Amino acid sequence: MLHAWICVPVVAIVGAAASMACGGADPKGKPAASEAKGKADGKPTKATPPEANDRKPDDPAEDAGTPAAPAAAWAWRLPKGINLPPKVPDDNPMSADKVELGHRLFMDKRLSVDGSRSCYSCHQNELGNADGRAKALGPGNKELPRNSPTIWNVGLHAALYWDGRSATLEAQGLAALKGGNMGLGDGVDAKAAEIGALPEYADAFAKAFALAPGAKVTGDHLAKALSAYERTLLCGDTAYDTQTLSEPQQRGWQLFVGKAGCITCHTQDNLSDGLYHRVGVGAGDPAAAGIDLGRGKISGTAEDNFKFRTPTLRNVSKTAPYFHDGSVATLEEAVRLMASGGKRDAVPVDEALQDRRLSDAEIADLVALLSAFDCPGSLEVIGDQGVDGIGSGGSKKSEPPAEAKAEGEKAAEAEASQGKRESVK
Ligand code: HEC
Ligand code: HEC
Repeated sequence: MLHAWICVPVVAIVGAAASMACGGADPKGKPAASEAKGKADGKPTKATPPEANDRKPDDPAEDAGTPAAPAAAWAWRLPKGINLPPKVPDDNPMSADKVELGHRLFMDKRLSVDGSRSCYSCHQNELGNADGRAKALGPGNKELPRNSPTIWNVGLHAALYWDGRSATLEAQGLAALKGGNMGLGDGVDAKAAEIGALPEYADAFAKAFALAPGAKVTGDHLAKALSAYERTLLCGDTAYDTQTLSEPQQRGWQLFVGKAGCITCHTQDNLSDGLYHRVGVGAGDPAAAGIDLGRGKISGTAEDNFKFRTPTLRNVSKTAPYFHDGSVATLEEAVRLMASGGKRDAVPVDEALQDRRLSDAEIADLVALLSAFDCPGSLEVIGDQGVDGIGSGGSKKSEPPAEAKAEGEKAAEAEASQGKRESVK
């Protein structure tokens, strides 16, 4: 039943055109028609994401402007429910070679300062492509300030991170390499040169970036390849996208778009408006030591203090614990908090958040709805991705069978509650 949304390169027999084929996608690379939207279940027609207004679904413009780019045509295969492809920067056109390279890099622990972590370490299949912890655990088991978000559809976000501090995936990739996630600090370019010189990588970098012989691989190349790969991680085709909601989920949807008012912020293909809102989680005295000001720290305005970017709700049933600080252990608690108007004890919250006075049965329907956003795919795992302290820590070479998966989830839950305890002490 599980099919990977990983795109596999398909090289055309005639000509040099390479494209990507993704399971279940429309063979012509056209986005799934949106005729299913706005049907009898009251699903509203989604607005176009602000960032994507100028892009047509199969606009080939992403290949323009980089003469050295490999002569590969790129065709997006969009899953149902994702109506526009990710925005691609002019200086990092998509290609099958680059995506394949990025995939390998994403799975390679040698990219971290001590060889302990790959990007995948904190964005694991079994954990909703997050890490099951309240707060992420970086190299040297240093706890990071925030909760790991899912990696699905990151190409659709207008800005990256809970506070939107990175405008592009490329910038985010460099930040992850440099910062506590991978721990390289000023050593990003040195690490890139080292990785790029490995026999198993040298050709791949040369091909993906049309490098002249002897040219050094830099951090920029790492970030670009990683980003190209991440843009292919599209989550659609969920029960929500295919309009196959169960009865409770249908009731949940009516609440989501109606009485519960969730659609105000959790909107568009990725169930996020891309804007910053104050929900009140983790808020307090802005002057307190170690407090997370969220968007306020980035914009430098008090008005933005404690605001965070609306997260996607895709895969949300699998990414416990919740919120930017992982302070809420279960999905039900998270839904109750949102439906009762946010956390109002310390600061005023966004006015779109109100106490909706939902019954327990209505909360249950909303919780049921959220699992209709579960992503059907999984990242194709390369190599041993076990990490002490994250997930089940064992070797995960591929999507585990159902029993193993259930175990992994149990371990994740144990992790989650443990992580929670750690974060409150
Ligand atoms: C130690 C755990 C950890 C590792 C390793 C890690 N990440 Fe993350 N990732 C996180 C956390 C935590 C955040 C959120 C941080 C924040 O918002 O301040 C995040 C956020 C992201 C985001 C933004 C998601 C969003 O919704 O805005 C992307 C994209 C991402 N990571 C990709 C990567 C890539 C690429 C790598 C490897 C270079 C990587 N991550 C390695 C923990 C990790
Ligand atoms: C005012 C905009 C807004 C509205 C309305 C809203 N949300 Fe959210 N939601 C957010 C923001 C912003 C966050 C992240 C806050 C944080 O981490 O501090 C969030 C977080 C969540 C999370 C946790 C996601 C995660 O990955 O940790 C869930 C679940 C959620 N919302 C569900 C809902 C539901 C259900 C409703 C309707 C009852 C709703 N939200 C209404 C903006 C909103």
